[in-house]
Amino acid sequence: MNNLKEILIAPSILSADFSRLGEEIVSLEKAGADLIHVDVMDGHFVPNITIGALVVNSIRSCTKIPFDVHLMISPTDSYIKDFADAGADHISIHLEAEVHLHRTISLIRSLSKKVGIAINPATPIEMLLPVIDEIDMVIVMSVNPGFAGQTFIRSTVDKIKSLKKMIGDRNILIEVDGGVTSDNARDCVAAGADILVAGSSIFKTPDYADNINSIRL
Ligand code: DX5
Ligand code: ZN
Repeated sequence: MNNLKEILIAPSILSADFSRLGEEIVSLEKAGADLIHVDVMDGHFVPNITIGALVVNSIRSCTKIPFDVHLMISPTDSYIKDFADAGADHISIHLEAEVHLHRTISLIRSLSKKVGIAINPATPIEMLLPVIDEIDMVIVMSVNPGFAGQTFIRSTVDKIKSLKKMIGDRNILIEVDGGVTSDNARDCVAAGADILVAGSSIFKTPDYADNINSIRL
């Protein structure tokens, strides 16, 4: 897809078989996953409830791959230490979920975790400007968060392009999350994405390696 930079693939375990979650994670590692994307939903910020820090802690020993924890919860601050202690490596919160963003960012930083800010499809990238020098990554949501298996919103590609420009030479990674498939992965990377999250397109068939490679290539 792009020989000049390494693209990281982060399978979202939301589409895994939860009755065999540990085995699924081992399979993803064998299949070449670079990160494990963990979608945490609270039934309040998004209309779905998934997993908490207890589950993150119990699957942490299954792999050495970094855990990319995407918090779709509001409020966030009171849960961040739990996820850090459970073994999260990246902790991303939604810009729309917390009103005291600098405080939340400092909290994640004080726990020595990578700091990510996620923005919903309708949130303009300019909202990131006040915190842009404080963060390690941005998750550009390409669906409205809450469920796996939704359709990729095409206007995200232009949004990634503008964000890439806005980031300039800062050391900030762009992650794209929602509806990523082999049909749109190339466009996301060409626009400036560094990390691609994918749930249904990786878990759709048992050959996870093949599905990961079809997004990466
Ligand atoms: C959406 C989640 C995503 C999603 C990815 O709320 O943050 O990580 O589950 O799944 P797919 O790739 O199926 O959209
Ligand atoms: Zn996610």
